[in-house]
Amino acid sequence: MALKITVIGTGYLGATHAAAMAELGFEVLGLDVVPEKIEMLQRGEVPMYEPGLEELLRKHVAGIEGASGRLRFTMDWAEVADFGDVHFICVNTPQKHGEYACDMSYVDTALESLAKHLTKAALVVGKSTVPVGSADRLASRLAELAPAGDEVEMAWNPEFLREGFAVKDTLHPDRIVVGVRSERAEKILREVYAAPIGEGSPFVVTDFPTAELVKTSANSFLATKISFINAMAEVCEAAGGDVVKLAEALGHDDRIGKKFLRAGIGFGGGCLPKDIRAFMARAGELGADQALTFLREIDSINMRRRGQMVEMAREALGGGSFLGKRVAVLGATFKPDSDDVRDSPALNVAGQIHLQGGQVTVYDPKGMANARRLFPTLGYAETALDAVRGADVVLHLTEWREFRELDPAELAAAATAPLILDGRNALDPAVWRAAGWTYRAMGRPAA
Ligand code: UDX
Repeated sequence: MALKITVIGTGYLGATHAAAMAELGFEVLGLDVVPEKIEMLQRGEVPMYEPGLEELLRKHVAGIEGASGRLRFTMDWAEVADFGDVHFICVNTPQKHGEYACDMSYVDTALESLAKHLTKAALVVGKSTVPVGSADRLASRLAELAPAGDEVEMAWNPEFLREGFAVKDTLHPDRIVVGVRSERAEKILREVYAAPIGEGSPFVVTDFPTAELVKTSANSFLATKISFINAMAEVCEAAGGDVVKLAEALGHDDRIGKKFLRAGIGFGGGCLPKDIRAFMARAGELGADQALTFLREIDSINMRRRGQMVEMAREALGGGSFLGKRVAVLGATFKPDSDDVRDSPALNVAGQIHLQGGQVTVYDPKGMANARRLFPTLGYAETALDAVRGADVVLHLTEWREFRELDPAELAAAATAPLILDGRNALDPAVWRAAGWTYRAMGRPAA
């Protein structure tokens, strides 16, 4: 009989995982503790912007016309425990307030709420990004609380999806990593990830701590790559070099690779910044803090890029105060194809200039509602052109395709001064300069 699957937590990770499992043909029950989220999902609506996710949900959510009906949602823990053979825990693990460590309370609560109702055999699979050692601790808690005792087992299966590509990354993962303690657990997870999802994807079987570490070390490596190229950008700025050419030339070396070498205002979002901090905090607890002191530097290179962008804008405006200066900001989200503004470098730069007296107007293709909620005192415009109207300087801070497709000539006519600073090295300098703009970018010579 086919396995029945539950997904606990319906954020980026959980909603996508639930829809993907239904797409594979499994019966899926999703749980969330937020009633509004459940109501939206039941209507086939997604609480965030994620390309392709709404279409996938609408293909499967029970009650939607033409849908397979394989995907349902609930808030009832007993129903979830009774329904599922495999329970995926996909709740978030944010940074603790005022600390580097990660807040495990959502994971702990989810596991405990589920465990109490587990009266039959089940595999509980953690997917959230957690400090190494959590799976072992949660397995003990599960054994203590689950009425079914030995019949219930824990496994760890980190998720590597990127926002903006969540559906693609879930349906076509570049690897599947499972931390297991028995052949039975491995067999179940191989069944879950059988073709077509696992087709061509390496399946790595390992222990709990290694599975947990794959995720945190992958994110640390990616963060390191970005901060490395941003450090090179700082050197290029001092030496008159061009970091874009440098990255291109470095990337031709297969051992280095082209990806994640785009210099600019650095990384943000709900994952990389908090994951490297939580990793450092955990290494400290384990007595291995020296091994990760380099991540402190990665974090500080990243954070100072934001201030450097502000200084670049100040200098471009002639130095001195931002008072009375009109600053157009293109981009509010931490990356394109997402409406996520969590720890967004773009919004941070906009906020700093605003707090220093600049008259800031922000436009973002999908992030306006979230940006307004987080930073209500900034100015907002409905289009890029409206944001640029009357601007003394334009800052390009999130590399949406829409911004690359703008007509620089039209924008030049609307701005007070055709001066653009590219904080993402994503616009074509030749095109903007040909339309009369003074174009400057982080890590590149002035002209
Ligand atoms: C990341 C990991 O990529 C993913 O595997 C993990 O599961 C979750 O964390 P995500 O947070 O969606 O995914 O974003 P990602 O695409 O990694 O970008 C992170 C940040 O780095 C963005 O702010 C992006 O603008 C920035 N970035 C990325 C750069 O500044 N330069 C680059 O070359 C690449």
